[in-house]
Amino acid sequence: MSNNRLSVFVAPLLFLTLLLLPRPGLCQESANCLACHSSMKGRIKNVSGALVELNVDAEKFNASVHGSLSCSDCHIRFSDNPHTTPSSGVPQAVLSLSTKLSSKFKVDPVAGAACITCHEETYKMVLGSMHGKNIVEKNQTDGALCLDCHGSPHYITPVKEENSPVGRGHQVETCGKCHGDEKIIEKYGLEENVMESFRESFHGRKLHLGHTRAPSCSSCHNAHDIRSKTDPESPVFGKNKLVTCGKCHKGANEKFVPAISHKRPGPIPHYGEKALIILTMGTFAFIVLHVLLEAFSDIRDAIFRKKEEEE
Ligand code: HEC
Ligand code: HEC
Ligand code: HEC
Ligand code: HEC
Ligand code: HEC
Ligand code: HEC
Ligand code: HEC
Repeated sequence: MSNNRLSVFVAPLLFLTLLLLPRPGLCQESANCLACHSSMKGRIKNVSGALVELNVDAEKFNASVHGSLSCSDCHIRFSDNPHTTPSSGVPQAVLSLSTKLSSKFKVDPVAGAACITCHEETYKMVLGSMHGKNIVEKNQTDGALCLDCHGSPHYITPVKEENSPVGRGHQVETCGKCHGDEKIIEKYGLEENVMESFRESFHGRKLHLGHTRAPSCSSCHNAHDIRSKTDPESPVFGKNKLVTCGKCHKGANEKFVPAISHKRPGPIPHYGEKALIILTMGTFAFIVLHVLLEAFSDIRDAIFRKKEEEE
């Protein structure tokens, strides 16, 4: 057997062994932090005025995608136990990113930047997106960063799992926290009824009913590489829609793709719908009235006849 062939077998085996070997160092470290943090209750206000939730649920942490990590893989500064003197061993890339993000992370910006050590490509994509630029270029805090979409850093579940906040069934809620927020819409001049129009669309209704192929927000806008609709690289810019819609609608052409935007359907369909509702209600009311009147006249006739018979 050649060396190459051998390594094909050995490499995965080695990898597996490494995975399965108990890692007392790592788990011990988490256990040390959790000795305090899993039994602490309540919140404190730290120096930057942020409310800090001190409790970390050990069971939920262990069950999360990061259960095998040690706390200081993210809280790199907190190597000391308990944390009295901050560690100076924070990699330069993480440190400089953490300074740019310090307005977004009021407790431990280093932990907020540390994801880049393992999810480098994704992180860079988010930083270059409309959301990331809002934070690092415009110095605002409204743009979405990892935790805005993935939830608490300690309890992240696989994105394919039913209860993930970025799962297909939950994106409307997750993106809607901001895209349905009037203050944010006004501040950035975003389109107003994105959420409403999606919910009412054919797609939104199918998704709500649990159709397994119906699109959610990221099917048309990406998850991390989110761009303005005026950016030629946006999946909803001009001709790119042929590809975006074409993922699910084979043979989508230029006549088909404009069928979906978040624009209001315009005054005519709107009033048309209202008129239809009024007409339906009116017809219904007329039928009810008719039946009542008829019943009334039957009763009156009956009483009249009875009176006649008595006389
Ligand atoms: C002896 C108990 C104890 C241990 C062990 C401990 N902590 Fe803490 N931790 C605290 C207390 C008390 C606070 C709140 C007051 C403070 O900030 O010092 C806190 C606050 C924090 C905060 C909030 C940030 C801040 O200071 O405002 C983080 C993050 C944190 N700890 C992470 C860790 C990590 C990671 C470990 C393990 C390396 C750890 N802790 C071990 C007691 C502990
Ligand atoms: C995947 C990275 C990651 C891991 C692993 C991690 N944390 Fe955190 N943790 C964060 C981030 C990010 C924040 C939020 C920082 C902020 O908002 O400034 C945070 C916040 C905290 C806080 C403050 C909670 C609050 O209200 O913001 C505490 C306490 C804490 N972590 C303790 C721990 C302990 C103990 C462990 C190990 C059991 C741990 N963390 C593991 C990323 C992580
Ligand atoms: C605007 C919301 C949003 C933000 C911000 C966001 N994510 Fe995601 N993320 C998603 C969605 C939605 C998915 C699921 C994508 C899918 O199913 O195709 C996902 C999937 C993932 C995945 C698994 C699949 C993959 O693409 O690798 C990882 C890992 C991930 N995100 C990490 C991160 C990190 C790290 C950050 C911060 C740098 C981040 N995400 C920021 C929405 C977001
Ligand atoms: C020390 C490395 C490391 C750090 C730091 C780290 N992660 Fe992860 N992350 C992982 C590993 C390993 C997985 C599991 C991958 C898998 O199961 O396929 C994972 C999984 C994930 C997933 C789920 C991906 C999926 O396919 O469902 C998300 C989302 C995620 N991480 C986000 C973050 C965020 C946000 C941070 C920073 C707060 C962070 N990670 C920090 C190593 C890390
Ligand atoms: C079927 C594809 C599709 C789905 C699903 C979809 N969108 Fe869109 N979205 C579009 C198109 C196409 C445009 C560009 C419309 C235009 O050119 O005016 C757009 C535009 C936008 C804009 C930009 C509007 C502005 O103010 O510039 C936002 C924000 C947006 N969508 C958010 C969402 C959110 C949040 C969801 C999930 C609730 C979602 N979209 C679901 C196709 C989609
Ligand atoms: C934490 C708040 C927040 C969350 C969560 C969020 N966004 Fe955004 N989003 C923003 C803000 C703020 C902007 C505008 C940034 C700017 O103009 O500087 C934006 C911009 C956008 C744009 C570009 C709009 C344009 O001008 O064309 C799209 C598309 C978009 N978001 C889609 C999404 C999708 C899809 C999700 C969920 C997967 C999501 N967003 C989650 C805050 C958020
Ligand atoms: C992730 C898959 C997916 C994407 C992406 C997608 N759609 Fe759909 N679309 C569906 C599904 C599923 C249905 C419902 C089909 C059914 O039940 O017959 C549907 C239905 C429709 C309908 C109504 C029924 C019909 O076939 O005429 C229109 C119109 C439509 N989509 C337009 C678009 C446009 C335009 C885009 C791109 C901007 C797009 N879709 C992107 C999955 C998708």
